[in-house]
Amino acid sequence: LPSGFVSVSRLSLVVVQSAQMQPDTHVYMFVCCVQVQDYLEPFRLSLEKLQEVSARATPDGTGSNWRRHIWGHENFLALDLGGTNFRVLHVRVVEEEQKMLKMDSQICAIPQEMMLGTGEQLFDHIAACLGDFLVSQDLKGHTLPLGFTFSFPCEQKEIDKSILIRWTKGFKCSGVEGEDVVKLLKEAIQRRGDYDIGSVAMVNDTVGTMMSCGYRDQSCEIGMIIGTGTNACYMEEMKNVKRVEGEAGRMCINTEWGGFGDDGSLRDILTEFDVVVDETSINPGVHTFEKMISGMYLGEIVRLVLVRLAKEKLLFKGQTSKDLLTPNTFQTKFISEIEDGLENAQNILTKLGLKWDDVDSRVVRLVCDTISSRSARLCAAALATLANRIRVNRGLDHLKTTVGVDGTVYRKHPNFSKELQATVRLLAPKCDITFLVSEDGSGKGAAMVTAVAQRLALQSRLLEDSDGEDEDEEEEEEEEEK
Ligand code: GLC
Repeated sequence: LPSGFVSVSRLSLVVVQSAQMQPDTHVYMFVCCVQVQDYLEPFRLSLEKLQEVSARATPDGTGSNWRRHIWGHENFLALDLGGTNFRVLHVRVVEEEQKMLKMDSQICAIPQEMMLGTGEQLFDHIAACLGDFLVSQDLKGHTLPLGFTFSFPCEQKEIDKSILIRWTKGFKCSGVEGEDVVKLLKEAIQRRGDYDIGSVAMVNDTVGTMMSCGYRDQSCEIGMIIGTGTNACYMEEMKNVKRVEGEAGRMCINTEWGGFGDDGSLRDILTEFDVVVDETSINPGVHTFEKMISGMYLGEIVRLVLVRLAKEKLLFKGQTSKDLLTPNTFQTKFISEIEDGLENAQNILTKLGLKWDDVDSRVVRLVCDTISSRSARLCAAALATLANRIRVNRGLDHLKTTVGVDGTVYRKHPNFSKELQATVRLLAPKCDITFLVSEDGSGKGAAMVTAVAQRLALQSRLLEDSDGEDEDEEEEEEEEEK
């Protein structure tokens, strides 16, 4: 062992502290506990393993076509359902030339009971929030187009017709799966009868994120979310999209990569803790990949590991606390805070009613680091697959592309983005990827898709009209010939 190792016998811990480090810099402590490591080892995925995972991740899904937009309207409404909060937004195009957008928004809570209640209650609540917002914005009486960011797996039939395949991320409202969510929203608004909305465009948050980043960087061809849930969309060649006619151009595909592994293809890397998280979730057996990665589940994985380590007397002198034993009390944001500093770790452990010593707090930080690191590396594996696919699709030796990203885990965790980016570089060495954090993709992006949809609808109406004229002219010519 290099010098500087201090052995702590109680837990067979080996603590390394670099003697050269300044006391005011981040002192890097490497805590290696032989027994703790037994539990953490399955979370540590080698580059070879990630390469295998990346190779298994073949994209497939539904999506919606989009083009570079031109704003036709100046005011848009947007609804954003599917993240930590439900939001209503008013997006205004201020200066077309400078591409300036202004947004006002309001967050509405969705109580837990409503997430598990009836679809009618949920959509009535959404309609009520939107109604209140219109009043506060002095917009009642205006019939504005609406971008609906609905971030759940859907089969998108049309821009304003999208069938919910299944709920994810803690929602389980009855009577919505298999139904058109735009229709449910419109019906709820009609039930109120005190305001109306214009045309609706449905988008997934990944698409909104890609669109809003594409506004700043035209080479943005992938949208990725690592927040409450995780998912990505990317630009696929039309010739590879079997469900849609036509070979020319590209189409945005929502991969719903959260569902990767639902066919058992990730069984070899699932830990016993992942299995418990899945079994105790409200949607067991589905969204396997998401449950290993996203903010909705990371805290719970850490909690389960801590409980196990305490039970094995490897933490907290074998003691737990009521809070630690309660599912979902260890919030994912604690992981970021703990990895940010040992003092935070100690405060959080105290708040959870645990009696800790210095070694405990370091082991807890190691657990958090291991689990968030696996999450970042798995995302990197899936992202590398998408980037490589785009590269191969275009017959390129080297691809330069941009990924628009959003989500609390990516934004807030101190090392997540760095680790993800470093791993993608290793797994997709022929792709030079720029990461752009989205500025409110769910609001701005949804408004942009709405604008595109309106423009396309207008174009096709004009086209139909001019077709009509042609037909009239042809008829006239035929008459003359007779
Ligand atoms: C879940 C949803 C998906 C969404 C992602 C991120 O995985 O199924 O549609 O994009 O969460 O919010």
